[in-house]
Amino acid sequence: MHLVIYGRDAELGKIEFEKYCGSQSFAFSVAFEKGDYQVVEFGEDVDVKKLIKRLGGTVRIAEFFAASSEITEEQIEKLGFYFEKNFNYAISGVNCGEDELNQVRGILKKLQKKFKIRGVEKRPDDWIASPANFKSWNLSEGFELFLLKEDGNYYFAKTIACGDSEIFEELDNKRPKQEFTRGTSFRLARMMVNCLGLDGSKTLVDPFCGIGTFLIEGMFAGFDVIGIDNEQRMIDASLANTNWAKKSFNLQKNCKLICEDAQTATFQADACVFEPYMGPFMEKLPNYEKAKKISSELSLLYSAVFANLAENLTKGAPVVCIIPFFETYDGRTVEVETGFIKKYGFETTHSPIEYDTPDKARIKRRIYFLVLSDK
Ligand SMILES: C[S@@+](CC[C@H](N)C(=O)[O-])C[C@H]1O[C@@H](n2cnc3c(N)ncnc32)[C@H](O)[C@@H]1O
Repeated sequence: MHLVIYGRDAELGKIEFEKYCGSQSFAFSVAFEKGDYQVVEFGEDVDVKKLIKRLGGTVRIAEFFAASSEITEEQIEKLGFYFEKNFNYAISGVNCGEDELNQVRGILKKLQKKFKIRGVEKRPDDWIASPANFKSWNLSEGFELFLLKEDGNYYFAKTIACGDSEIFEELDNKRPKQEFTRGTSFRLARMMVNCLGLDGSKTLVDPFCGIGTFLIEGMFAGFDVIGIDNEQRMIDASLANTNWAKKSFNLQKNCKLICEDAQTATFQADACVFEPYMGPFMEKLPNYEKAKKISSELSLLYSAVFANLAENLTKGAPVVCIIPFFETYDGRTVEVETGFIKKYGFETTHSPIEYDTPDKARIKRRIYFLVLSDK
């Protein structure tokens, strides 16, 4: 059994995990779960180090080695203490208190004396060490022990795979063309591409490709990609960024770029993912009238784009996309009318999820999970 810990946006992380495992035919069942974690049983041996590298929303996968109704030396000794050299370790808690972690702490010190080994405990600022700390503290050479409390029982797990946040920083910061108000973050793009639940032997379209974030993530996942944008400047930026990614990461996939309006462009694709144009840049929260005006303009644009997607996507194609909504300065919420989803034959496969950007942008976002009905 494995403990899977999700990062920020845990709900999205869970859907990503489920959809990605599905696309790779990794069968698993969830034994129990709470807010930001799940305890899962894989149907067969899965290389979880490889798995976590492909995911944007999973921060840890740990394997259980003991369970009991008390925290005892006998249970913790099952971790296995075979350290030849000095090592670092950390104790992370899920759903348990400081007293219980201190009990584990005391037992670990005792066991080190018993086995004549020397470890240095590293204490995270939070309940769990950040991926950056996990790496800099070299915990994979020592260990990270998880104590999980559930229904009065204690479960002990050892981390075997930690998420890699550096790859997203590298992608976000090193792509040659940047655009402050338009680029989607690579971490979010990876999660959304994985939420399509398709293996990469197909063609993916982004009808609002901007500087090409989803196109690059699509190629990482193995898709051929098509990017559409109605500004030549953005198409040029996508070309520069996708060529850079192909070269830097040896991605041998096709990328076709089309400078056209997403409402009328023609293409052939089996899946679709996008963060659309969401109205003019706003320095402050809008008043109600302004928010209403923007949202009805966007509703018309999205309606025409969905009509066009229905014409050009293969039946049964999954679509994962962002649709914004607006908060006004006096605390009201204005929704973009989304009747076009049903009208053009798309079905919702999972309730939409609110997504807060780390920079707390003024425009609010919801992620939609859809499929083009084959009826
Ligand atoms: C939020 S940005 C997309 C960000 C993109 N995911 C990225 O990572 O760069 C929206 C893009 O949609 C483009 N756009 C706006 N209206 C469009 C339309 N009618 N058809 C196609 N593209 C459009 C804009 O030029 C802009 O590049």
